Amino acid sequence: MAEDLQISKGTKEEQYISIIQQIKGLLEGEMDLVANLANIGAALKEQFNWWWVGFYLVKNDELVLGPFQGPVACTRIRKGRGVCGTSWAQAKTLVVPDVEQFPGHIACSSFSKSEIVVPLFYRGEVAGVLDVDSEQMNHFDETDKKYLEEIVSLIN
Ligand code: SME
Repeated sequence: MAEDLQISKGTKEEQYISIIQQIKGLLEGEMDLVANLANIGAALKEQFNWWWVGFYLVKNDELVLGPFQGPVACTRIRKGRGVCGTSWAQAKTLVVPDVEQFPGHIACSSFSKSEIVVPLFYRGEVAGVLDVDSEQMNHFDETDKKYLEEIVSLIN
């Protein structure tokens, strides 16, 4: 497998379609969870250059920071807390156009203005979340939701 990503310069949808194909290639034949999460985060960061992209994993009733790309972040989040803990508790994707309007938002970085959090399921339970932050307000929409959900469904 070539290690270099091809970076798409098309529409957002074209960029997702291109990166998903490449993520499938990166995951092929590799069963290690951390290795796969690390490469997914790196591929997404390279394609979209978001402020922060990474994973939190459920460990002993808390979310614990996993592989990520971007500035240092909070290490532990309780169920129901912040956007990540709420996505976990509700087992659904949350698109937050303005983090200041989200009650209990956890500000790991003052630069983060909008956010999307997608739960990662394993055997029907939330096993973690994919969290993406942007320094722009209102950065994420239904297209991001659709394709990021597809990306996390590739992890098992
Ligand atoms: N903002 C998140 C915390 C994680 S950081 O953004 C990386 C939240 O409210 O859950």
